Amino acid sequence: METTFGVIKPDAVAAGKIGEIIKIIEKNGFKIVGLRMERLSLEKAQKFYEVHKARPFYNDLTKYMSSGPIVALALEKEGAVKAWRQVMGATNPAEAEEGTIRKLYGENIERNAVHGSDALETAKAELAFFFP
Ligand code: CDP
Ligand code: MG
Repeated sequence: METTFGVIKPDAVAAGKIGEIIKIIEKNGFKIVGLRMERLSLEKAQKFYEVHKARPFYNDLTKYMSSGPIVALALEKEGAVKAWRQVMGATNPAEAEEGTIRKLYGENIERNAVHGSDALETAKAELAFFFP
């Protein structure tokens, strides 16, 4: 059994999509083993996305991620890391497959509704960061 880390981002929370996204998560066989609503400080958003510090979108991204409450999630399932990435869809909602959360609820490549860890090691670090 594997646990991955997910976030319902500020755009999706503001749009009232928490319930629908959680429904998709549960329908896809994930067990929610951690859940917390939180308003990130700019500093915490910057630390979380530190890996992207050199990217041109870093400033906007961290401002956006601290612009309103998020929902942090710990999701358990066999092969959870890969499975959650599939349910989320591609980073750019315009390129995401039909039925994926980003296709359904993402506004654009930045405001794309959800986050998911990209590897098991990343998941461990991100889970520890949000659920110490
Ligand atoms: O979230 P994901 O792992 O799919 O993508 P990423 O490449 O790790 O980028 C992290 C986040 O930065 C994305 O989810 C977007 O919110 C944002 N981003 C952006 O604003 N503009 C880009 N060109 C790429 C990513
Ligand atoms: Mg990523």
